[in-house]
Amino acid sequence: MRKKIVAGNWKMNTTLNEGVGLAKDVNEALKNVTPKCDVIIAVPFTHLASINAVIDSNRLGLGAENCADHKSGAYTGEVSASMVASTGATYVILGHSERRQYYGETSETLKEKVSLAFENNLTPIFCIGEVLEERENGTYLDVVKKQIEDALFNLSAEDFGKIILAYEPVWAIGTGKTATDDQAEEMHAFIRGVIAKKYGDEVAENTSILYGGSCKPTNAAALFAKPNVDGGLIGGASLDAQSFMGIVTAF
Ligand code: 13P
Repeated sequence: MRKKIVAGNWKMNTTLNEGVGLAKDVNEALKNVTPKCDVIIAVPFTHLASINAVIDSNRLGLGAENCADHKSGAYTGEVSASMVASTGATYVILGHSERRQYYGETSETLKEKVSLAFENNLTPIFCIGEVLEERENGTYLDVVKKQIEDALFNLSAEDFGKIILAYEPVWAIGTGKTATDDQAEEMHAFIRGVIAKKYGDEVAENTSILYGGSCKPTNAAALFAKPNVDGGLIGGASLDAQSFMGIVTAF
């Protein structure tokens, strides 16, 4: 059975003190509920080690928001997958649309990042999604299929089986414009079909596919009720412990 997951993506928000405080609040809140899903927070590199020291890893998973596409060496300012792993983090978001859009990440660089993540026992949360123009001109299914094929279909079935996918329509990120539950379900079912064709039904059925894009406590339950939506990747609403918990408990 595939896992249900709610993951926060803090993006470039919070100072170290604020971030440690927020992580502590989420960790505390999780003591009072028995969530029906795994809960993860992905936080800035600078916060990883400090946050790892204050959370209970059985309750709350920790991840980075990116890692370098090289192992080590003369890449000033970059943070490698092994550095991320050395903080105690076990997840890494890869291919977020903001990385693709603003930092020119391509499927070629993402392939390297995925492989380095695996070498360091990090679970990739791999993001895919179309821009508004592609949604409107009807190419959105093909666009997402190509993103998956180009960056991930070089993997063995065993490695592909370790990936968490996050469908994040770019037009829904930070805009307050959520995909409808039916739009999310259409894409998630399509993605599962694409995986089944390449890796077989078992791998497809076991792959967790999260939805991201203006997911909030008010719309999470309807999205998560869809059979192919296995949880959420949460931006803005993960920056407040109460609203993040409102989404966690939507399952
Ligand atoms: P918002 O929830 O702020 O729309 O962000 C979604 C996202 O990009 C998570 O990775």
